Amino acid sequence: MERTFVMIKPDGVRRGLIGKIVTRFEEKGFKIAEARLMTIDEQLASVHYAHLQSKPFFGELVEYITSGPVFAMILEGHEAVRNARTLIGFTNPIEATAGTIRGDYALIVDYNVIHGSDSVENAEIEIERFFG
Ligand code: PPS
Repeated sequence: MERTFVMIKPDGVRRGLIGKIVTRFEEKGFKIAEARLMTIDEQLASVHYAHLQSKPFFGELVEYITSGPVFAMILEGHEAVRNARTLIGFTNPIEATAGTIRGDYALIVDYNVIHGSDSVENAEIEIERFFG
């Protein structure tokens, strides 16, 4: 069964959205294989977002993702990576359709509530990175 990595970001945790978001994945049919509340330090953030190091928003992105606990999950299901990305919605909430998580719970790309792996290969890398 395919696996993906999903993480509720600090704004989602702060706003008390863990339950609602987990319910969305469960209702869709995913199995929550593992989950944990954790804090990301600057080193882990720099590794996770290494591909974005040259972007003007990189510093703020690291500050944001390290600003409080995140809720990390391993989800299992048919085409888990693509199915989770569809449920999560486009990166920029203004483009995310109502009914998706970002479409329903976020306004601005800087605080878009949730991360989901973008490929099967990256999912396995991110699962190893966050769950070992
Ligand atoms: S790229 O370079 O835009 O194609 O990268 P992408 O895979 O879409 O992921 C970008 C991640 O950076 C977060 N972020 C922003 N993206 C675009 N613009 C702005 N201003 C911005 N600020 C933060 C975005 O949420 C993506 O984070 P993850 O955790 O991967 O969802």
